[in-house]
Amino acid sequence: MEVIIQPDAHSASKLAARYIARLLRSKPNAVLGLATGSTPLMLYAELARLHSEEGLDFSRARSFNLDEYVGLGPNHPASYHHFMRENFFRHINMQPENCRIPDGTVMGEDIIRECEKYEQEIHAAGGIDLQILGIGSDGHIGFNEPSSSLASRTRIKTLTERTRQDNARFFQPGENVPHHVITMGIGTIMEAHEIFLFAFGAGKAAAVAGAAEGPITAENPASILQMHPRVKCFLDEEAASQLRRRDYYKWVYLHKPAWQHV
Ligand code: PGA
Repeated sequence: MEVIIQPDAHSASKLAARYIARLLRSKPNAVLGLATGSTPLMLYAELARLHSEEGLDFSRARSFNLDEYVGLGPNHPASYHHFMRENFFRHINMQPENCRIPDGTVMGEDIIRECEKYEQEIHAAGGIDLQILGIGSDGHIGFNEPSSSLASRTRIKTLTERTRQDNARFFQPGENVPHHVITMGIGTIMEAHEIFLFAFGAGKAAAVAGAAEGPITAENPASILQMHPRVKCFLDEEAASQLRRRDYYKWVYLHKPAWQHV
């Protein structure tokens, strides 16, 4: 895992956007795995800026989002369909038919079919070239909560109370945060060719330390990323604050060969 510590979330997001721009310029039909939540907002804003000011072209790119709430339609303000439209898709030139998000409106056994279809569509697209991830304060990636199988595939999951509370800020006061979600599995995420994990703020420091330096355990689902050969972990100083090898990661980044920089 390459841990890249930047002074703040803004510089970390700008740096990651440069890597993504390089990928899109070398492979215009790249398949992106996309995430929601507060963490990737600056990344999406920077990619939108690169699109409008520097002509970064998304017209042939495709995307698969990590997850969606069961029971929320695409126009619900807290749905991830709505989030992606408002925060990313309407600012760039991706074709709507190339942007896939799990369908939160399916019910009962149709959820199982939707999950299987999602996996098949990722496979048919040639797999995910670059997966963007946030991390929950409990170490979840996607909505794979602690104790999720490290080999899991896209499926329905029940959120922990902690995650429901963490995410209540996206809902109206008093509104029910759904208990169930459809999420890519950890096995699905691990098949991405490359993974960028983002974490900002002190609230993520313990989860990040467990993910990067702790044992690989379903107690901290992000710790499985230690087994992936191409992970970059973009952190601000606060999120990096509990890493034992913090100074070492900074030293490594400073001394990277020039040709590895963007
Ligand atoms: P956040 O969520 O970016 O809103 O903190 C991250 C996550 O739950 O994966």
